[in-house]
Amino acid sequence: MIPSSCLVLGIESSCDETAASVVDASESAESPRVLSDVVASQAELHAPHGGVVPEIASRRHLHDIGDVVAEALQRCGASIGDLSGIAVTNGPGLVGPLLVGVSFAKSLALAGGLPLVGVHHLAGHVRAAFLLSRESVAEDAQAAREPDAPYLALIVSGGHTSLYRVTRSGFSRRYEELARTLDDAAGEAYDKCGKLLGLGYPAGARIDRLARSFSGTQVDFPRARIKVDGGRGVTRRAFSFSGIKTSVRQLVVTSALQPLREGEDPAGRPDLLAVLAGFQEAVVSMIVSSTIHVLEAEGLRHLVAVGGVSANSLLRERLAQACRESGATLRIPAPRWSTDNAAMIASAGALALRAGRSDGLGLRANPALSLSEAA
Ligand code: KG4
Ligand code: ZN
Repeated sequence: MIPSSCLVLGIESSCDETAASVVDASESAESPRVLSDVVASQAELHAPHGGVVPEIASRRHLHDIGDVVAEALQRCGASIGDLSGIAVTNGPGLVGPLLVGVSFAKSLALAGGLPLVGVHHLAGHVRAAFLLSRESVAEDAQAAREPDAPYLALIVSGGHTSLYRVTRSGFSRRYEELARTLDDAAGEAYDKCGKLLGLGYPAGARIDRLARSFSGTQVDFPRARIKVDGGRGVTRRAFSFSGIKTSVRQLVVTSALQPLREGEDPAGRPDLLAVLAGFQEAVVSMIVSSTIHVLEAEGLRHLVAVGGVSANSLLRERLAQACRESGATLRIPAPRWSTDNAAMIASAGALALRAGRSDGLGLRANPALSLSEAA
């Protein structure tokens, strides 16, 4: 039986977003409704450094977290007393930022006498594909329904690019890693390429827009097709994005390409746009080809694609086309839930609570938490 009211507060602070959200899992623990969803991004603070500075991130999380949680509660008219539980990201991520979220969640759980569950950040990302907005109707619920397990999860973000086979037992989920990047994550490649070309941080969404605005001849970049020994005589696909980053760096180092100058309009730089379009084409085609290869090799029929890079417009189109051709179903979150948010953490927490888990005040932040061991 699902309780008549099951509101779960989620808190996320593993990197450079302080986020809080309340979801309602009364109708479904698998596809809860998002009642409020607040994200305070620190991107501007880190932009001058070209990446996240952990100390600066910790201090800003500490500054913002009280207000962000209060706003998430206030936006849906809930108080601590209305909640059924609290979920918080306890890894992986930056240790200082994680500690801020975990400590704050513990104090709220203690004050409200509420169960507390730790959520693996990547397990949270997977749940983002099944979230329902407050206004969603029956057809939306059907479109967002979690596919029958086992299914393949592509997690493609600033910190990770991996494929997992997801299996279920009741309200628990298990994640078996089938492929991963050998070097950079796809989002990291976007951000590093953006830094080299003067496009700011993070650069993924901007490169996506600029690349799509270009219709000329793209620069052709080499595509890595990596296979690794998967044990027991099996070869497995892996991802690699450092080669393409090096190719872009070479263009800049040899002065074949000038980075965008401050205040310069990228629309007047077809040479730069041709590089961005070629970069995006190569990265997306590498992700799609390895994902479909693993999907078919494993005999899986359903793909779930999540994480910040799953907001990419070309990746969304190409995955949809490839899944159609392969006869597989595809779930991708709405773009606002592809990138870091707390609704996905609250959703994973709702499922964990339904599975009977409660971590209590002994919960620890673990920057290297493994998804294969997470429930
Ligand atoms: O999932 P996320 O918010 O944080 C991590 O857990 O890493 O992902 C952030 C990453 C950044 O590298 C950002 O540049 C990338 O996602 N990103 C995109 C797009 N939107 C965000 N990359 C490509 N195209 C996009 N539209
Ligand atoms: Zn993330």
